[in-house]
Amino acid sequence: MKKGLKKTIIFKVNSSHPQLEKIKNAANVIKQGGLVAFPTETVYGLGADGLNAKACSKIFSVKKRPANIPLILHIASKKTIFDLAKKIPREAEDLIDIFWPGPLTLVLPKSRIIPQIVTGGLDSVAIRMPNNPIALKLIKYAKTPIAAPSANLYGGHSPTCAQHVLDDLDGCVDIIVDGGKTSLGIESTVLDLTVKPFRVLRVGGIIEKDLRKILGKVKLVDNRKKIKSPAGNFHPSVCPSGKMILVEKTKGQIGEMQELASRFRKSGKRVGVMVTKENKNKFNGSVVKVIGLEKDLKTCALNLFSTLRSFSKENIDVLIAQGFKRKDIGLTIMNRLQKNIDKDIDIDKDKK
Ligand code: TXA
Ligand code: MG
Repeated sequence: MKKGLKKTIIFKVNSSHPQLEKIKNAANVIKQGGLVAFPTETVYGLGADGLNAKACSKIFSVKKRPANIPLILHIASKKTIFDLAKKIPREAEDLIDIFWPGPLTLVLPKSRIIPQIVTGGLDSVAIRMPNNPIALKLIKYAKTPIAAPSANLYGGHSPTCAQHVLDDLDGCVDIIVDGGKTSLGIESTVLDLTVKPFRVLRVGGIIEKDLRKILGKVKLVDNRKKIKSPAGNFHPSVCPSGKMILVEKTKGQIGEMQELASRFRKSGKRVGVMVTKENKNKFNGSVVKVIGLEKDLKTCALNLFSTLRSFSKENIDVLIAQGFKRKDIGLTIMNRLQKNIDKDIDIDKDKK
């Protein structure tokens, strides 16, 4: 526990058959306006009563999140959507039938009962029904929609286990319900149904191809353009000097990564390399971590955030990450990696 903060209690709960006593206890904390971190199938959420503005305001202060970034409301029953949203298009009902409970968040015009703080002042609200027995029971017993962003500090990586939540928010949250590792490891797809054609605002657990099967046309608001070994600022928790290079998937990708690693090493830098298992042994003298099998991108998505977090203990100066083909789940992984690249770095200038 950090000095001057409250004690965070951890409830270990069986993920497929959650112990009701513990869930009810956590639900009571939500009802009383407290904060409970809990697992969903995607990542851990930082939950508060979604209809209680004061409780929701704690989410923003604890995460250090700007007030204009809206929260997702999590529900335990499909029909609750009719209390929270209005003008629900027919397609929304089809999507709900097929993808809920699951990693699809729908943005719809909001109903009056939702506090402004939840939607960051917007007229729309994001809603999803998570596919995790602990989350569903917690919402059910709290008898309210639970507002929950990912349970990490603003700008950091989403947590995929209780320890990640503790690393970021110990002493700031009342309870962490520990249901083990999340099953997908990457956040939900956010789909805006308030515009036509519908727009994917964030790629995630449900891929574009599956949405198109139901909706026909969907617009993807995402940066798909290829980048040539861009370097950028990285989250300080991963890499104290804050540098990351993402190398696009091309024929020469691994050679390019090897060259970069060797250039940095020669200039006295401690280099981290994040690669798929197939390429593990191709980088001598660097801190190499495996994200998963290239043939099985689901495992790469599952391990992405925990692998990035694990670099924080390695005291590296620069992280060189293997990029993926921008398609399906590979696109989601690239989207999350690319978030770290917002500023160009001149690699040669950067030598010691
Ligand atoms: O998988 C997930 O979605 C996880 C778990 C905990 O459910 N939650 C999550 O929440 O990733 P958060 O707050 O980290 O990301 C929610 C995203 C933000 O990018 C936010 O801008 C967007 O959803 N969003 C929320 N409400 C919105 C709205 N009314 N209009 C447009 N975007 C919205
Ligand atoms: Mg987040």
